[in-house]
Amino acid sequence: MSQTQNVPEIRRLKDLNTLVSLSKRRGFVFQSSEIYGGLGSCWDYGPLGSLMKLNVKRAWWNAMTRRSDIVGIDAAILMHPTVWKASGHVDGFSDPLVDCKDCKTRFRADNTESYLTKKQCPQCGGKNLSEERNFNLMFKTHMGPLEDSGSVVYLRPETAQGHFVNFQNCQQSSRLKIPFGIAAIGKSFRNEITPGNFIFRTREFEQMEMQYFVKPGTDDTYFKEWKERRWKFYLKFGIREENLKFKDHDKLAHYARAAVDVEYNFPMGYSELEGIHNRSDFDLTQHAKFSGKNLEYFNEAEKEKYLPFVIETAVGCDRLFLAFMCDAYREEVTYMTDEAGKKSEDVRVVLGLHPEIAPYKVAVLPLSKKDELSQPAMALRDQLAEDFDVTYDETASIGKRYRRQDEVGTPFCVTYDFDSINDGAVTVRHRDKMTQERIKIKELNQYIAIQLKQF
Ligand code: GAP
Repeated sequence: MSQTQNVPEIRRLKDLNTLVSLSKRRGFVFQSSEIYGGLGSCWDYGPLGSLMKLNVKRAWWNAMTRRSDIVGIDAAILMHPTVWKASGHVDGFSDPLVDCKDCKTRFRADNTESYLTKKQCPQCGGKNLSEERNFNLMFKTHMGPLEDSGSVVYLRPETAQGHFVNFQNCQQSSRLKIPFGIAAIGKSFRNEITPGNFIFRTREFEQMEMQYFVKPGTDDTYFKEWKERRWKFYLKFGIREENLKFKDHDKLAHYARAAVDVEYNFPMGYSELEGIHNRSDFDLTQHAKFSGKNLEYFNEAEKEKYLPFVIETAVGCDRLFLAFMCDAYREEVTYMTDEAGKKSEDVRVVLGLHPEIAPYKVAVLPLSKKDELSQPAMALRDQLAEDFDVTYDETASIGKRYRRQDEVGTPFCVTYDFDSINDGAVTVRHRDKMTQERIKIKELNQYIAIQLKQF
């Protein structure tokens, strides 16, 4: 008799490379322009990644805009260049840059340990270094056919300015009363000096930002409230609490009265996932000054006018995608000993994603490729696709196919077998419990919907 232990040992993710290769192999994330050798720090989301990214955005969007006091917008990436003068980005959005004249490495002066402590190059240890110079992180381009200084526009480095310049449009068109918020999801661009760690820091990325406009004097209360709400959001979608922490900023940005990061325990250590800031009335004051428009809010009931303060929550969609992947990845290891005493191990890789985040909710797996099973199984796929993101797989053994789905986080596998032809029922297997239940095909959509809610 061979022996197996009862409860598998759980191994968690140790390094990002495991995820990078899973992502490529299974179609989550590919390197941009890979056939040309790739483009530094740019990534493409594949068939599963694009589905999952939409789910990440939907989770955030619903958490914000289904509230009665928050509306959404979708602002343009290109904005009037004066926006970036007013916001402080033209003059201040830069990192100090140093070049090593020996090995040609370029690095940031303000967060490179060997430079800060010994004035040495982090790559070769040399001391033949350039002076520090400020490098603006905004990407510049030109609008229209002339490439002169009058046609310069920037790719936005944050979505937030779209909220500020549309503050009055949103308030008036939706007849909003303070406090209220504006939420948006969109691409931002930063010419980062040291991008890296897969999709953690890239030059093109997506942000999910919300600005909550409040009466001055009430800002501390709302700052605390938003800290709590954002923490609960991560727990709701399955991030393990032991991997999250708040980190207060030691040094506040010029516009901030208070700032805290939500940090996640990535394989490279705790790093910023989201920023929550009390931006005071800095942005509206600046835009009022530079545009010449009065951006004050008028409170009818109290007959008072003021520039609201802003509580901002800002998270990177790609970074949250990465946090979900890191947190969900597990290897379930079962050790076996055969009659001859030979030991071996079986590893089940599971992406234990929250069902709302998982790319597919259900996989349809006919027991054999024969037409008599594959045709009705395909019809079943179509039936499920009316309500869920669903995948279909008829290659390899059923055991192998279950494992394939576990590795991409599919909560349910549905097996159509020879009995299904007669009894009109299928076997539904649960990703985490690995239990199996026989369910009538005509009740399947409703069953899956209920099970997903209770997962
Ligand atoms: N409007 C405020 C703002 O943009 P930020 O802390 O610079 O604040 C907010 O950015 C979030 O955007 C970060 O917490 C991070 O999740 C994401 N983010 C910023 N730079 C990024 C980059 N280069 N690559 C990927 N995500 C980035």
